[in-house]
Amino acid sequence: MTRMTVNNQPIQYRLAPDTPLAYALRDASNLTGTKIGCSNGECGACTVDIDGRAVRSCTVTIAAVEGSFITTIEGLARDRDHPVQQAFLAANVSQCGFCIPGIVMSAATLLQRERDPDDEAIRRAVDHHCRCGIQPRLIETVRRAAAIARGDETVTPIARPGTDAVDAAGAVPALTATKAD
Ligand code: FES
Repeated sequence: MTRMTVNNQPIQYRLAPDTPLAYALRDASNLTGTKIGCSNGECGACTVDIDGRAVRSCTVTIAAVEGSFITTIEGLARDRDHPVQQAFLAANVSQCGFCIPGIVMSAATLLQRERDPDDEAIRRAVDHHCRCGIQPRLIETVRRAAAIARGDETVTPIARPGTDAVDAAGAVPALTATKAD
C-alpha cells in the first residue's frame, strides 16, 4: 500500500510499488487530465506538481513519492480559474489540447517560485513538446499569467461547460485507489 495526498485527498494505492505515478493517477484515480505521451520523461505531457516541483510523472514510481503532496490539473484550481488557466483561455492558446495540462502544471509551479519570471526562465520551465507548434505563443501567455497572478492584469472569465464545483473538485478514487481514513 502506497500512501500520498492527491489534490488534497489522502489516497492509498494498492498497486505494485514500481508503478509509474502517471499510471496510478490515470488508471486508479481516474485523473485523466494527466496525459501520457512518450512515457520516458521527454514530452512533458504527464507533468504534475509534487511537493511544489513540476515533475514528469511517468518517470517516478509511486513508491518514490510516498508521503508526497501531489497536485494534478484537476486539483489546480476549484473553478479552473488559476491565473495560468485564465491566461491560456484568454489567449486561446490550446489547439489539440493534449499536452496543455502538463504545460499548465509546469507554468503554475514556475509562478509559485517566481512572481515575474523572464523569458529564459519561462522557456526553461515550459520545455515541453507540442506538435501543434504553440511554443512561440507560450512565453507571452505565461508572462500574462504571471501578470494576472500579481494582480497587474485581469481577464474576463469565460464560461465553460462542465465547470461546476463537483466536476472541478479533483481526485476521484476508483478501482484500486481508496481514500485513507
Ligand atoms: Fe511523461 Fe512524456 S509521458 S514525459
